[in-house]
Amino acid sequence: MKAMTKLIPLIAVFAALAMFSQGCKKEESKTMTEAPAAKAALSATEIVLGAVFPMTGPIATYGQESVNGMKMALKKIGDIKGKKIRLIVEDNKGEPNESANAVRKLIDIDKVHAIVGSVASSNTLAGAPIAQQSKVPLMTPASTNETVTQTGDYISRTCFTDAFQGVVMAKFAYETLGKKKAVIIVDNSSDYSKGLASVFTKKFKELGGTIVDGSFTYVQKDTDFRSLLRKVKREGPDVIWLPGYYTEVGLMLNQARQMGINLPFLGGDGWDSPKLQELAGAEGIKGNYISSHFSPDDVDPAVQGFVKEYVDTYGQKPGAMAALGYDGVLVMADALKRAPTMDHAGIRDALNSTKDFIGITGSITIDENRNARKAAVVLETTAKGMKFKQKVNP
Ligand code: PHE
Repeated sequence: MKAMTKLIPLIAVFAALAMFSQGCKKEESKTMTEAPAAKAALSATEIVLGAVFPMTGPIATYGQESVNGMKMALKKIGDIKGKKIRLIVEDNKGEPNESANAVRKLIDIDKVHAIVGSVASSNTLAGAPIAQQSKVPLMTPASTNETVTQTGDYISRTCFTDAFQGVVMAKFAYETLGKKKAVIIVDNSSDYSKGLASVFTKKFKELGGTIVDGSFTYVQKDTDFRSLLRKVKREGPDVIWLPGYYTEVGLMLNQARQMGINLPFLGGDGWDSPKLQELAGAEGIKGNYISSHFSPDDVDPAVQGFVKEYVDTYGQKPGAMAALGYDGVLVMADALKRAPTMDHAGIRDALNSTKDFIGITGSITIDENRNARKAAVVLETTAKGMKFKQKVNP
């Protein structure tokens, strides 16, 4: 009986695999006999834009804010070359395998012109190879891990990378705060966290700081960090580098203050969420610093105009992801307008040659490695929200 119940799903999997490989074979023979420009049979009457974002799950505010920003941008963009843009949003639930499935679906079923997303680097890394193999442009407005754009020429980003963000925060810790001994807490389920841990380690040591030896790790969806924090406390650091996402970070800050750990915790853009404060609590939120892409306090009139319109529309101040999603779609629209041909290769070429595009998150130029060189901001997390500290140019 037990063997039988195990067998049924197995049979289903094999059947699905057989069908899938049939589909692939058909695709292969098609691409072999047809010219590459004809491969996708893109709509000639509309522009189909796919989006892969976490709308539910532990990093849902990233997706919600992005889509808010993207929709605001779409309202500003009229027709492009006489065609309307149709946005299809797929919820990846913050999971790599869901991200890969979403990219597949957008390419195979929806026949998208291009894809925007995702946010968490591990999610984008799961979808990017599929877009690259299918030669469909995928542009992430937010994934900062170095390796994302190394996937290939169809993959680009409109944000800075962790090689920059990690250095900004190592310098902030050592030079601005005068800290000398850091413990690094890593989310082992995140390429983003692991990458930022190593960038920070290298720079902080180079500056003269000490990184406490040992492994201080957790994974996404953990909720009790007390034994980890006890271990951290025993080491007596003067600063903690915590490159994580807001749900785990918020809970950890809350528990840390309850345990009498009143040191500054430092993080990256992954903390930037309207939910952070609620999870961290009034004590947990105080006195920590992050690097991010944008500050709603920026006096630049364009930024203030964006903030006002966002607040009027959604009743909440925009976080970094709202601004990144907004800019991402505007950059995409700009590329679509400039594209020499409205096929995937033409859109890729236009995206990859984006130059001096003035966005809310700064001036965006896609460099030869398909990354954007942009300023970062350092923000202090306070009970009254994120407070602007400094802007750091690349
Ligand atoms: N940079 C993060 C990553 O690569 C994602 C992120 C961007 C989260 C901006 C919040 C705000 O995983």
